[in-house]
This record gives sequence, C-alpha cells and structure tokens, in this order.
Amino acid sequence: STVPMEAKRLAAEKAVAHVESGMVVGLGTGSTASWAIKALGEKVRAGLEIRAVASSVASEQLAQEVGIPVTDFSAFSFIDVTIDGADEVDAGVNLIKGGGGALVREKILAYNSRHFIVVVDETKLVDTLGEFPLPVEIIPFAAELTLGQLSSLGCLTSIRQQDGKDFITDNSNLIADCNFPTITAPSSLHDRLARIPGVVESGLFLQPMVSRLIVGYQDGRIEDR
Ligand code: A5P
Repeated sequence: STVPMEAKRLAAEKAVAHVESGMVVGLGTGSTASWAIKALGEKVRAGLEIRAVASSVASEQLAQEVGIPVTDFSAFSFIDVTIDGADEVDAGVNLIKGGGGALVREKILAYNSRHFIVVVDETKLVDTLGEFPLPVEIIPFAAELTLGQLSSLGCLTSIRQQDGKDFITDNSNLIADCNFPTITAPSSLHDRLARIPGVVESGLFLQPMVSRLIVGYQDGRIEDR
C-alpha cells in the first residue's frame, strides 16, 4: 500500500494529463499542487507549451525552478485549467481550502478558470465539512473585532501562528482558523461570512466550482471523476 504522499503524487500526475499545449494553467498551492507543478515541469521540458499563473509566491518560485513559463495576468483573458489540492472534500464536492494560507489567490484562480481540477488523497474525503478548521483571510485592521464577529457564527477562532508570530499571507493579511463543531450548511455559512467587513474570503469553495475531482487511494488506485 502507498503512503498518503505517494497517493497525492500519483493523483497529481493524473491531473497533469489533462493539460494540453497552448493552455494557460493555474497553479495551486500545497504539497499536492507541488507534485502537479513538478510533473508539469517535466512535460514542459519534453515539449509541452504552456503559460502559467500561480496562487502563491511559493508555487511561482517552484514553477520557475522546474522551467514552467510564468505569465502576467494582463497577457490572457481566462485560465484554461487550474490544478489544486484541498484540505477537505465533502460528498457534494464542496471544499475547505486554505491550510497553506493561499485561499484568496487560489479562489481567484479557480473562479476564473474554465476547468478547476482538484486533487486529493483519500484522507481528505469527508461526509460533512468542518473537522478541518475553516481558514478565513481577514485584514489586520481591527482584527479583534472581526474575530468576535466570526466567533458569533458559532466557532472557536484563532489567528494562525507561524514561528511564534502571526502568519502573514501573500496579501499581507491574517488567517483566522475557525473551528466549527461541523459545517452542515456551507452555502449559508459562506453568505454570512461574506457579510462581515474585514473578511477577505473564506476557504469554502462551493459547487459549482470543481469540474473534476481526482482522488488517490492508499491501495494505489486513482479515481478521476
Ligand atoms: C493551500 O492554501 C491549501 O488550500 C492547499 O490546497 C491545501 O492545504 C492542501 O494541501 P496539501 O496538498 O499539502 O495537503
């Protein structure tokens, strides 16, 4: 049997098979997306002609390291396909993302993509979202007040920390990790979050956003649906 990392890698390689020459490709963030970026780099070195945009500084750097041409947002009008991971996927293919703190840029890429391919290993599949604390990007101004508003929705909140300091996103914002008992109505929660001033975006990526879900199983099987 394969370990989760191997399941992620095999599934990411399967996702990359959907990329064709001439495409503008959106690059996700996280360990699964990194496998996809490395696999795309190999294909570029073998002759695949693509241009890419990245959802994080880290993914842009990796793309450049592996030889994928990174383009400017003014150079095209839509993204053909974006490939990204997720932290949780429910039975209706709604997602929680943002474990890597890149959810705002990830959501902009996904929203502006013709096809959004999500790649996960089987450990990410859940019946109902919410065991993974929901990441919400908030602006630093009056963060205490915004956190209070988030808590009033019924969650325990904390500002994400890294190396003993507040984690700062690529957009110079904070991440509030919101721990709900469970998220039974993701769509109404999304609406309530969007009404709070100071919230930039939440990590809820709701249908119809995902065009294709690729799942890597520990027994080596890949499901492409
Ligand atoms: C990054 O902000 C997240 O949305 C990632 O896509 C998510 O955390 C998945 O990460 P792994 O691929 O490392 O599990």
